[in-house]
Amino acid sequence: LLDRGAPLPEWHTPPAVAREMIRARPPRRQRGLVLFFTGLSGSGKSTMARGVVETLLETGERTVTLMDGDVVRRHLSAGLGFSAIDRDINVRRIGWVAAEVARHGGMAVCCPIAPYEAARRAAHDFARAAGAGFILIWVNTPLAECERRDRKGLYAKARAGQIKGMTGIDDPYEIPVNPDLTIDTTDLPSGEAIATVMRYLGANGWIE
Ligand code: PPS
Repeated sequence: LLDRGAPLPEWHTPPAVAREMIRARPPRRQRGLVLFFTGLSGSGKSTMARGVVETLLETGERTVTLMDGDVVRRHLSAGLGFSAIDRDINVRRIGWVAAEVARHGGMAVCCPIAPYEAARRAAHDFARAAGAGFILIWVNTPLAECERRDRKGLYAKARAGQIKGMTGIDDPYEIPVNPDLTIDTTDLPSGEAIATVMRYLGANGWIE
């Protein structure tokens, strides 16, 4: 029993124990993982995220949760808008939930715009604190191409001044400092883009 009056013992991990802890850690394919896509609206991140999830579900080797942008904003982040503060809260919430999914070996796939480095970093830190891996994929399809696609008509509205604070038009997108993977989907069929991510996961031991 501890003597309450005595100074607290100093805890440390001897190097041999630390080495053994690393050696005995389960392989990556059994560890939790957060796969985090970031990029402009229309860059192709949701298509890739869905494709990766479908492929993983087909092989059945991973339990996967897709944190789809629309679904997140309808439930987890209902009521939030697109101010810097609301985007920050939204992305941190996504990061926190994703880390909980990954805590016990699950894989969470997220695809918000996530325009701010600090919030992306927070998502990274949540995952690492949960003992999970974190992979940041920057879908760096240029604005001109995203605008050309304009599937939701938002860029046209932003250019016409009908909506304010559109990322890439009159709202910032901070370039990711250190992405693990960068993919421009301008000339890349979606199947190829998905295959690129799957190859990356395989080459780094996250899947068989
Ligand atoms: S964020 O910045 O990460 O919180 O944004 P996110 O939750 O991913 O939501 C982005 C989708 O919302 C639509 N939308 C807007 N995007 C950017 N700026 C503004 N002002 C805006 N207003 C609505 C847009 O369709 C985004 O969807 P995706 O799937 O990215 O195209």
